[in-house]
Amino acid sequence: MFEKLETLPPDPILGLSVAFREDPSPDKVDLSVGVYRDRGGVTPVMSVVQEAERALIDAQVTKVYLPPAGAPGFRETIFSLVLGDAAATLRPRASVIQAPGGCGALRLGAELINRAVPAATIHLSDPSWPNHAPLLTGGGLRVERYPYYDSAGHRLTLQPMLDALSGAAPGSLVLLQASCHNPTGVDPDREQWRAILDVVAARRLVPFFDIAYQGLGDDLDTDAWIIRESARRLPEMLVAVSCSKNFGLYRERTGALLFIGTDIAHARAVESQANKAARSMYSMPPGHGGLIVERVLGDATLRARWQAELAVMAGRLRSLRAALAQGMAEARPGVDTSWLVRQRGMFSLLGLRPEAVRSLREEHHLYMGLDSRVNIAGLSEDNVARVARLVAPHLE
Ligand code: LMR
Repeated sequence: MFEKLETLPPDPILGLSVAFREDPSPDKVDLSVGVYRDRGGVTPVMSVVQEAERALIDAQVTKVYLPPAGAPGFRETIFSLVLGDAAATLRPRASVIQAPGGCGALRLGAELINRAVPAATIHLSDPSWPNHAPLLTGGGLRVERYPYYDSAGHRLTLQPMLDALSGAAPGSLVLLQASCHNPTGVDPDREQWRAILDVVAARRLVPFFDIAYQGLGDDLDTDAWIIRESARRLPEMLVAVSCSKNFGLYRERTGALLFIGTDIAHARAVESQANKAARSMYSMPPGHGGLIVERVLGDATLRARWQAELAVMAGRLRSLRAALAQGMAEARPGVDTSWLVRQRGMFSLLGLRPEAVRSLREEHHLYMGLDSRVNIAGLSEDNVARVARLVAPHLE
């Protein structure tokens, strides 16, 4: 039966990490998968997470099943983290389902949408994170694209995006990354977001937000602003939340699917459908990561320390961006690299040709996506000048 299956090429992101690990060169630099790294190249367990985890293990008396919607305390704290001051008012008409990471939340969202409108269309930015389309089509949705990024100017193509969304069928969905857009690093400013929401509201589109980097762009509130603004203006929306990056819980698969509707009955019905969809895929989410997040967010001291640790990580991302931009500008006087500093979060597209990306990998052991997406957090104060010198000759 299975002899008909062909071997597939490696995943465009995770496959690079595997190749990187196998590369024996002492000079190798991994700018591929989006994980935070410290100066020594290690993805650390955040100190506050370590502490909460120890306390959790000491206090733990059972590993009995969680309900399909996940740990109740985690569900409340994550909703408040994303919705901020609006959380208490919105909560009665919201459903919150813990999910296995941001990927699990996106897939669960797709399954839920497919239950409401089979084979509904969802509009994705061009470009978008390469796993968005597989997760959403895997849940039965049809994907269309809206223009998002001007690669020559390294900026948002607002008007073409608005034009495309103005032509989208009413009732279709639009996936919007709340902040730190993956892979471009380009986020709309508030005025641009308002214009996007105007079209979303006028066309009666349903936003599906993906928030995977809250706190790693500007700060926790700024990075979630568009979600809160949409909740204020629109009748319904979905949000996929990931705790991989901002809590460093990558392998614990910790995330949530949020739904905000018009009333309590609406929210209850959606939650029951999402529970059923979860039960038919993985039964219930893993508990460990969610229980850690619940402890950190539920304790004022731990929460303040987490916020401080996160702010240091975000500040370091911004200073690595500045160092890369400066190094490239020094190596290529006259070439504008200031866009790197204006962009936010872990990723930017350097705009290199695939041949240049390949030669940087083969000759200099510098690993990045074939689209020249770099994980800024993969740089360090020790290698950024060398990376800038290697990349600069290939800038268009
Ligand atoms: C990335 O974009 O590199 C991360 O979100 C990791 C992943 O799963 O692709």
